[in-house]
Amino acid sequence: MSSLNDHEAVTVLGIESSCDECAAAVVRDGRIVLSSVVSSQVELHAKYGGVVPEIAARRHVETIIPVLTEAMAASGVDWKELDAIAVTRGPGLMGSLLVGVSAAKSLAAVFDLPLVAVNHLEGHICACYLGEAPPVLPAVCLIVSGGHTDLILVEDWGQYRWLGGTLDDAAGETLDKVARRAGLGYPGGPVIDRLARQGSPTAVQFPRSWLHGRPDFSFSGLKTAALRAIQLDSQLSSEDLSASLQAAIVDVLVRKTMDAAQQHGVRGVMLTGGVAANSSLRETMAAGAAKMGIGFSTPPRTYCTDNAVMIASAGWFRFRRGETDSLSFDTEASLPLCLVNEAPRALSEHD
Ligand code: KG4
Ligand code: ZN
Repeated sequence: MSSLNDHEAVTVLGIESSCDECAAAVVRDGRIVLSSVVSSQVELHAKYGGVVPEIAARRHVETIIPVLTEAMAASGVDWKELDAIAVTRGPGLMGSLLVGVSAAKSLAAVFDLPLVAVNHLEGHICACYLGEAPPVLPAVCLIVSGGHTDLILVEDWGQYRWLGGTLDDAAGETLDKVARRAGLGYPGGPVIDRLARQGSPTAVQFPRSWLHGRPDFSFSGLKTAALRAIQLDSQLSSEDLSASLQAAIVDVLVRKTMDAAQQHGVRGVMLTGGVAANSSLRETMAAGAAKMGIGFSTPPRTYCTDNAVMIASAGWFRFRRGETDSLSFDTEASLPLCLVNEAPRALSEHD
């Protein structure tokens, strides 16, 4: 087993099962991907228009061993050559999380390997370390997915301050719900991204909720407006609906991220989570950061949506800091980001 000597390579097996993706990956030094396997359950949940927790957990039980076996075989790494096992501890669906955590604990016990419990959101943050441009810290990070729309101040790796988040729907949830009502399929984000390229972003003037002076978001008004537009305008094309909805979401996400970056005087902006795969969001955020003269970092598209590479990467950062967990750690469905690491600094009245 390698020591934590900076010159020695550290190889981590990552396991992710917090929602409907069952994934395993072997990653060296936090960013060299030796293998990555993701078994998606999208087709299983599509007919319900969203993830059904019980069905997700049962499918994880069936897929976890084949996924792990494939990831290890594809990496060319023997179990004995691993330095640590990293697994998502939370937040997520309890039944789903338990499958990955039980597998990780069993493997750690059998192979006598250190275990690192990872916060799923820290995984999304560390996915930026896999991007073309390494993150410039301190940075403001927008985590935008089906379940989260959060602004985090990344002071350093492992030092996070939650600045604000959505007061109601997450951005991805809004895309998924509108797409479902419009009959575009599930998940809605990738379809809307594709259709929007052929539509007009000004076809429908959707509202933007700015919540001036606070780093929070609200997408429920936009969701209601989009659902009403579908109901009232039978001539509205899927392309125009998609382009107008996407523009309303991107406008707010980018402006509020840039405002937070300016307010905190950071050197970079990070964009991550499933919705970070959106072409328009990536381009607009990159342009915003360039205009401010600060760095911009985002994962390659494949590592925006849930995967185990990001968990192995976050696990590597924690392992290097000497942060490992015992076999008795608890799985937590509502794990806040900062509890895994240092306690967050108290928010002041001005935050
Ligand atoms: O991070 P993720 O895989 O799972 C959660 O932790 O939620 O994110 C899934 C979300 C879904 O809402 C999906 O519609 C959205 O990411 N998404 C996209 C794109 N690809 C996935 N949204 C917009 N554009 C995309 N290209
Ligand atoms: Zn996620």
